[in-house]
Amino acid sequence: MDLSHDGARVIVTGGASNIGRGIVHGFAREGARILICDSDAEQGARVRDEAAQLGAQQAELLTLDLTTEGSGARAVGTAVQAWGGLDVLVNNAGWNVPGFLAEQTDRAMWQRTVEVNLFAAIDCTQEALGPMCEAGRGSIVFISSDAAFGAIRQGIYGTTKAGLISLARTTAREHGRHGVRSNVVCPGLVLPEDENAVGEQSLWAADRDAIFNEDQIEYVRKQTPLRRLTSPRDIADAVLWISSETAARQVTGQVVAVGGGSTMP
Ligand SMILES: NC(=O)c1ccc[n+]([C@@H]2O[C@H](COP(=O)([O-])OP(=O)(O)OC[C@H]3O[C@@H](n4cnc5c(N)ncnc54)[C@H](O)[C@@H]3O)[C@@H](O)[C@H]2O)c1
Repeated sequence: MDLSHDGARVIVTGGASNIGRGIVHGFAREGARILICDSDAEQGARVRDEAAQLGAQQAELLTLDLTTEGSGARAVGTAVQAWGGLDVLVNNAGWNVPGFLAEQTDRAMWQRTVEVNLFAAIDCTQEALGPMCEAGRGSIVFISSDAAFGAIRQGIYGTTKAGLISLARTTAREHGRHGVRSNVVCPGLVLPEDENAVGEQSLWAADRDAIFNEDQIEYVRKQTPLRRLTSPRDIADAVLWISSETAARQVTGQVVAVGGGSTMP
C-alpha cells in the first residue's frame, strides 16, 4: 500500500525517545522529511542520525522545551521555513508519574503533566492549523493512552490524555472543511526496546520499577486479549496509516487503540 509519505513534511514532538523514536523511524523508512522537536539535545541528535540512515529524505532536530510560550510557533515555523509547509504533525511529547490519585498531591507534578501533555499539543496544533488550512490539507495525530479511559495509578496523566481526545475531535469537526484530518492513537504499555531507545529526559530514564515493575507489567500482559505488550513499531505503523492522505483519506476524529485489545474505545 502506498502511504504517500515520500517527501512528506512531518513534525514529531518528543521524537527523541521510545514511542516518538519509533514514529520517527517509521516516517524515515517512508522517505519523509522529519523535524524532531524535543528538549533532549543529545538523544534527539542520535535519533536524527538514525532517521537519516533509515532513509529520511531529510531529518532535522529542533531542541526546545515545548511548554514554553512560543514554542509551537518555533516548531511549526522551522518546518514551514525549511520546506514551505507542513503535512503531518504528531503530538507525541508526554510525561507521566504514575501514582494513586489520593496520594498525588504534588501540585508542581500536576502542573508539569498538564503542561507537557496538553499545553504543548494545544500550542503545536494551533500553529499547525495555519499552514495546513492554507494548503487545504494536513493531518494531525495525537498520542493519547489507554489511561484516557480510566486506569489505576494514572489519574492526573489519564485526565490529560482524555483531554487530547476532545482536542483532536474538535479539531476534526472545525477543520475538516479545510482538508485537515485529526485523529488519536492510544498506545497500550510500550517499554523501551533498549538503552539506545531513551534519553536522560525520558520518563523511563529514572527508576523504571517506579513506572511499571515486573508484577505490574505481567498484570498488564495477562489483562491484554492478545497477551503481549505493544512495541514502538506497532504505534508507528498506526500513525503512518492514520496520517496518510491516501490510505486514511476519509478517516478523521477517530480514536485507534493500539494495545493488543487492552482497551476498546
Ligand atoms: N510508553 C508507554 O507505555 C505509553 C503508553 C501510552 C501512551 N504513551 C504516550 O506516548 C508518548 C511517548 O511516550 P514514551 O514512552 O515514548 O515517553 P518518553 O518519556 O520515553 O519520551 C518522551 C519524549 O518527549 C520529550 N519531552 C518531554 N517533555 C518535553 C518538553 N517539555 N518539550 C520537548 N520535549 C519533551 C522527552 O525528552 C522524550 O524524548 C507520550 O505522550 C506518552 O504519554 C506512552
